[in-house]
Amino acid sequence: MTQSTSRFLADYKPAFYTVHSIKLTVELDDTQTQVTNEMSVSRQGEHNEPLVLDGEQQTLLSITLNNNKLSPEQYTLSENNVTLNTNEDSFTLTIVTQIDPENNTSLEGLFKSGNAFCTQCEAEGFRRISYYFDRPDVMSVFTTKIIADKTLYPYLLSNGNKIEEGALDNNKHFVTWHDPFPKPCYLFALVAGDFDLLADTFTTCSNRKVALEIFVDKGNLHKAEHAMASLKKSMQWDEETFGLEYDLDIYMIVAVDFFNMGAMENKGLNVFNSKYVLADKNCATDSDYFNIEAVIAHEYFHNWTGNRVTCRDWFQLSLKEGLTVFRDQQFSADMHSSAVTRIQNVRVLRSQQFAEDAGPMSHPIRPEKVLEMNNFYTLTVYEKGAEVIRMLHTLLGKDNFRLGMDLYFKRFDGMAVTCDDFINAMSDASGKSLTQFKRWYSQSGTPTISVSEHFDPEQATYSLTLLQRSPVTKVQVAPDALHIPIKIELITDSNEAKNVQEFMVELTEESQVFTFSGFELKPTIALLADFSAPVKTDFEQTDEELFTIITSAKNSFCRWDAGQKLLMSYLKSLTLMPDFQIPTQLLTCFTDILASDEDPAFIAEQLILPSFDEAADMIDEVNPIAIVSAIETLTLFIAQGLEQPLLDKLHYCKTILQNNELTEAEITSNKALKNICLHYLAPLEQHTLLVEQQFDESDNMTDSLAALSCSAKYNLAIFTEQMQKFESQWQDTALVMDKYFSLSASLVSEDIYRQLNNLTEHHLFSLKNPNRARSLIGAFAMNNPKYFHHSSGQGYEFLADKIAALNTINPQVASRLITPLIQFNSFANPHKALMKEQLVRLQNLPNLSNDLKEKLDASLAI
Ligand code: TRP
Ligand code: ZN
Repeated sequence: MTQSTSRFLADYKPAFYTVHSIKLTVELDDTQTQVTNEMSVSRQGEHNEPLVLDGEQQTLLSITLNNNKLSPEQYTLSENNVTLNTNEDSFTLTIVTQIDPENNTSLEGLFKSGNAFCTQCEAEGFRRISYYFDRPDVMSVFTTKIIADKTLYPYLLSNGNKIEEGALDNNKHFVTWHDPFPKPCYLFALVAGDFDLLADTFTTCSNRKVALEIFVDKGNLHKAEHAMASLKKSMQWDEETFGLEYDLDIYMIVAVDFFNMGAMENKGLNVFNSKYVLADKNCATDSDYFNIEAVIAHEYFHNWTGNRVTCRDWFQLSLKEGLTVFRDQQFSADMHSSAVTRIQNVRVLRSQQFAEDAGPMSHPIRPEKVLEMNNFYTLTVYEKGAEVIRMLHTLLGKDNFRLGMDLYFKRFDGMAVTCDDFINAMSDASGKSLTQFKRWYSQSGTPTISVSEHFDPEQATYSLTLLQRSPVTKVQVAPDALHIPIKIELITDSNEAKNVQEFMVELTEESQVFTFSGFELKPTIALLADFSAPVKTDFEQTDEELFTIITSAKNSFCRWDAGQKLLMSYLKSLTLMPDFQIPTQLLTCFTDILASDEDPAFIAEQLILPSFDEAADMIDEVNPIAIVSAIETLTLFIAQGLEQPLLDKLHYCKTILQNNELTEAEITSNKALKNICLHYLAPLEQHTLLVEQQFDESDNMTDSLAALSCSAKYNLAIFTEQMQKFESQWQDTALVMDKYFSLSASLVSEDIYRQLNNLTEHHLFSLKNPNRARSLIGAFAMNNPKYFHHSSGQGYEFLADKIAALNTINPQVASRLITPLIQFNSFANPHKALMKEQLVRLQNLPNLSNDLKEKLDASLAI
């Protein structure tokens, strides 16, 4: 493996050469694929710089410049590039190389997923296919000819439009594709295989008919229907919301089982992890359905935010990802409950992004220094990046935001641009100064807002003092004040009825006082309506005040958040003092919540306790085992205190669900609430029968999985038997077997380490399949905190062993799975020392990938 050095945003220089067009001819073979790459190149500006093309892990066969085949003395070949000199200003360069897809287990570049060939080029995978300027600001028109055996590979796909096809000798055939839109090579894709094809059409707002094609493994045709419906909804939504129409005549999606991430937005030919395409009621849960729709939308929305306007360099990744995540979140909010969608976005942010931003790999949404680009497809770039766009939307308002988007596309269509370019368009279109706002792109860490109140009855004024602080780090010695939109509600009592006033204040100074007049009585404040900024708050509110917000705030996010704040304060107390007496008012509050006529899905969210990760993020020097116990204690307190209301609600939801005239939304909401009730009741011995019953009677994956996860979480006696049934029913369905491995790894039992070892020996387990690897290893490290953090250190050791094996098989997957270990510094000893020991062990691996090296160096340097 090549050890390279970090690159810096500050060192950006435009390319010395550009490629106007590129013609690729790919003759597919399992181990000896030949790639012929004919580029028309021209020098940019006047200079004598050599021509340096990125390329790795391939065999160079020949280089021809304007019909002259170069001899090896005429170029310099290194492990990751080829360098040559020429006096020509415009010339044709033809490079022939050979690659080995079958043995490419990293799944970057050209690889095999089952029997199909497919590619993944983002971020820097094209250099494993051919020598090229592998950077997003070199944009070219691609023509791709694919040659392969026609029996094994009846479908040969690439970007754009099919322009030619025909038969060749030796049972081979070819197809040629032409993509008229110039693009960076990270958007190139090629797929060859035998699939079932679900075909449909979409008529755009300007009345053009677009062919929609989804390719799935044979036998899975019906499982692509939800993805197709989601695609059509996405196309419709983008026209209605942003006036954005699809541009090619065909949009293809291919689902593959071997894929490092969720999906990829290659122009006109998306490649998806099959997990985000395939679904039917028997094999997919309601949240699988939701996620498929969201990922389909995300990749579709990239056609404008990412492809038509792309990134100048990889430091600008959030330009396309933050914006596209914001767009997919808005889409999901429009398709479903906006309150529940927002709550779920915030949970991800608080439980994972905040920890990342407080850990050794903390970086601004626009990183400044990168060793391995794949390490920066992070929750910070994606989710915090989306929050930054959301703040712009809040500050500018919906209409000005739309004007800003329109101007952005008008100015930059067809170009590779920066985050600053985006903000400038927003500023110019709205007339709002965003100079200070830009600091969100260069500062890392979650800001904390400290709040103090002052009520003056004489003047009838209520004032709020807000103080912002961003964390100080080695590279961020003196963080500046950020521009933060803070939406609030002021709730007052006026004879029985509650009166609620809504405001938005813009915090721009380090400390600022905001005064509100006309308050005869001290109002209760609900802070951060809709979670208007990705910040933490340092604000003591009494239980009484929190109860007022839970019952009276207009903003549903505030009602939910006040409940979470209350629960979190109990969890914190229980963590520090295990015999802390939980106030019984919590039971009254939960009884009211259970009895309310809110959307059942929202009630379900209100009943869910803050997660292990959220709690860990709130406490310094965390004893993980104490957090696990605190969560167990609080769960049991609620379960015992509300046994009857929970039981009643469970039965009530079941009755509702018998009605066969419900909408999809009503079905999922009621199932969600029923299953939360089941989770509370499951640890009570007298109710384990409910879990058995639900598993036996279930006719859908949501209910089956809810029952199994209760059995795993409470180590119920029936777990083994249920899992055996589940396995024999689903052994041939890969995506369901992933759930099987996840459930197995979440079993809260001392026997877990022995079971994990058996599971890694299971004939269906393989580290080469990322979904499978994550389903076992990731689920154990993320969902089984009690045994992952066991003070014997066995959990850490198990994870490190698997990461060591993955280091050579698939560095990207290894690097993602290491996340829980590098956060060792936030835990108390002995956990901290034990985690660190494993990191040191990994750092000494021979052939350490750049992916792992970057994270290990960062975490062990502290
Ligand atoms: N651009 C993709 C997305 O957000 C991300 C992605 C897919 C990716 N596969 C990848 C990034 C492989 C790095 C490596 O939709
Ligand atoms: Zn994306």
